[in-house]
Amino acid sequence: MSDDQRDDAARRGTSDAAERAAEKREADRRRDGRRITERKGESVRAAIRDELAGDERAEHAAETQAPTEREAAPVIELDHVYLAFDQPILQDVSFTARQGETICIVGESGTGKSTTLKLILRLLVPEKGKVCIGGQDITNLTFEEALAVRQKMGMVFQGAALFDSMSVFENIAYPLREHTALTEDEIEARVREKLEFVDLDPDRVMDQLPSELSGGMRKRVGIARGMADNPQIMLYDEPTSGLDPLTTGTITRLIMKLQRELNVTSVVVSHDIRSVFRMATRIAVLNERRIVFFGTPEEMAASDDQYLRDFLGG
Ligand SMILES: Nc1ncnc2c1ncn2[C@@H]1O[C@H](COP(=O)(O)OP(=O)(O)O)[C@@H](O)[C@H]1O
Ligand SMILES: [Mg+2]
Repeated sequence: MSDDQRDDAARRGTSDAAERAAEKREADRRRDGRRITERKGESVRAAIRDELAGDERAEHAAETQAPTEREAAPVIELDHVYLAFDQPILQDVSFTARQGETICIVGESGTGKSTTLKLILRLLVPEKGKVCIGGQDITNLTFEEALAVRQKMGMVFQGAALFDSMSVFENIAYPLREHTALTEDEIEARVREKLEFVDLDPDRVMDQLPSELSGGMRKRVGIARGMADNPQIMLYDEPTSGLDPLTTGTITRLIMKLQRELNVTSVVVSHDIRSVFRMATRIAVLNERRIVFFGTPEEMAASDDQYLRDFLGG
């Protein structure tokens, strides 16, 4: 089977079995001593060419092409943001995510990608510059106002970060119990709806504990929880890290499905350049405290900039 056929199989709902099969293949591959990471350099450019030429990207292009020309409303704006802890972390960082866009943030570890998500969530406030959500400057807000802004956003934390002692149902119900006045029946209906959206069978998984699920299923539950309260904005921190290529494809498709069907505006921090090229409307590359590139995947692939070329594997 080719990768694409395997992806198709996963899409048709056989993803649990397929994921387990992929986990086994991955284990076999490691035993062979041929780790995927070692083959990365040689294949990254080829993978990017595939993604840019793929049918899915072409289909997606109608929504993703030149968002500035469509003049969709800005949903997330970072305007000359400066932030330091002991040392400066972000210096003069600006970018805009428009309605329905998927912005991917890439860069080496420790460059401030997770910090950028925390600024958008208003878990951090910049020392200079401002962050606007839906046109509202969120720099100076009361505690209640900050909570209201945060409620517009669904966050998928690194490693899914589910509550281990709670069932899948309670994990997804948690934000609804915290932030809404929904009745028990409404909560159950919502949990079922979100599990179905992420291609999990509610009757099978609702009562399970996170530890009983595969890695890919846990990520899907994390996404279902993030979207439980119907947010306009979704933020993902490394949603595919630690997953095999098959499951990475499934999660990438899910992020694209949220954009396509719900017109959600997303910011995705990711190491996986192949899935970034598949889902991004625009890519922000962070390096040494600054955004050194902000543009479409096509523009990034065509760039002559040496840092970008090195970053993409030569
Ligand atoms: N709360 C904090 N206090 C001090 N330094 C921090 C804090 N959070 C992150 N940092 C530092 O800020 C830098 C960027 O961190 P982070 O945004 O997590 O990077 P990335 O997600 O790109 O790997 C790192 O050098 C990290 O050590
Ligand atoms: Mg991080």
